[in-house]
This record gives sequence, structure tokens and C-alpha cells, in this order.
Amino acid sequence: MKLFLDTANLAQIKKLNQMGIVDGITTNPTLVAREPGEFEEIVAAICREVKGDVSAEVVSTDFAGMVAEAKHLATIAPNVVVKIPMIPEGLRATRAVSQAGMRVNVTLVFSANQGLLAAKAGASFISPFIGRLDDIGQRGMEVVEDLVKIRDNYRLKAEVLVGSIRHPQHVLEAAKVGADIATMPPEVMEKMMQHPLTDAGLKRFLEDWEKAKKTKASITA
Ligand code: E4P
Repeated sequence: MKLFLDTANLAQIKKLNQMGIVDGITTNPTLVAREPGEFEEIVAAICREVKGDVSAEVVSTDFAGMVAEAKHLATIAPNVVVKIPMIPEGLRATRAVSQAGMRVNVTLVFSANQGLLAAKAGASFISPFIGRLDDIGQRGMEVVEDLVKIRDNYRLKAEVLVGSIRHPQHVLEAAKVGADIATMPPEVMEKMMQHPLTDAGLKRFLEDWEKAKKTKASITA
């Protein structure tokens, strides 16, 4: 499964990208609005840092506006994926934009039926938001399970990109049900690295090594 970061913060992206564990980036208007600088510059800088797909979202809600924005976004860098919201005009725009050769990530998907329609319209990525469903008492992962099954049943080209991830368990569950991509805040990726037994084990190894240095002549400081 590919792991994406869900952030527009370049410092956080660089920190994790140098570990070789970042396959791509998703942004949204909220995430970009948090960062200083112009939208295009932020997206361009992320695209220079990360070789994989970088989703950048349109903010128009009408067909013509979304298509025009998509065309502009695609000029920023070859790895830009245009993010279009799952609304009727968005489906129409997805069709036009994907037919024009650009890749589309249909975002704000909250049901498997919405995802099916997005794939049919030509989306390369379908983004179910699982945390927001969990927040309202629904099981977000169920939508992912359904979409993975639909993808396999019909050999859909669209990749299931799990968004609105809140904790490492979400990532693990997404991997187990066969999602193609999980996008997560940097804090979640950092938590995935951690285990108290790793820290305790390393502490013990280093303590034992320090003790051994006093008795073993061959070990130098
Ligand atoms: C995905 O592409 C979205 O940007 C994101 O995962 C939304 O997550 P949130 O519900 O934490 O805002």
C-alpha cells in the first residue's frame, strides 16, 4: 500500500520524505490555507520535494470553473493530481478533465455509491473520508471495504485512497482490507514508527554496551 502525507507543510514533508516512506501528498484548501505563501508556490515546492503524486484541489463548484482551475493546476508540475469534489458538477468536470489527459482525485466521498460514480466518471483516485464518518457514528472503514470489493469485482482503474485518517489503526485496517493508498497527517506517520518496546530495547542495549566497555579491553569508547 502506498503511504501519502495529508499536509501542505513543506518542513514536515521534507522530514518524513528523507526517510523514504512518503509515496505522495494530498492537500486540500484547509491545509493549504494554514501555510504562508501563494497557493501555486506551495504546490510547486511540494512537487519539487516529492516525486510521487501531489493532489491539489479546485475551489470552484461549477463545471467551467473546475475545468479551468484543473487545467491551471496541471501546469504547475507533471505530478499534480487535480482534486475535484464529489458533487454532480464535479462528476461532469471529472469526465472532461480526465478525458483531457489529466488525473483526477475525487474527494469528499462518503459512500461506496459515490465512489462508484467517481470511478465511472474517469477518476484515477477515489477518496473516502473515514474519520469524518467515524465522527458521526458510522463505520468509515466499511466504505473502504465496499470500494475495494467494487474495484476488484470490476477491475476498476481508480485507486482507493483512504483519507481523513486519525490514527495508525486506521492505516493498518486500510492495508488489511486492500486499499491502494492511505493518506495521513504527519503525526500519524510518526506514531506508526513508535513502539515502547523498541525504545526500552534500545535503552537496554546501550546500557549493556556501556557496562561491557568497562570490562572488555577490545571495546573502545
Ligand atoms: C484527503 O485527501 C483529505 O485531505 C483529508 O484526509 C481530510 O481529512 P480530515 O477529515 O482530517 O480533514
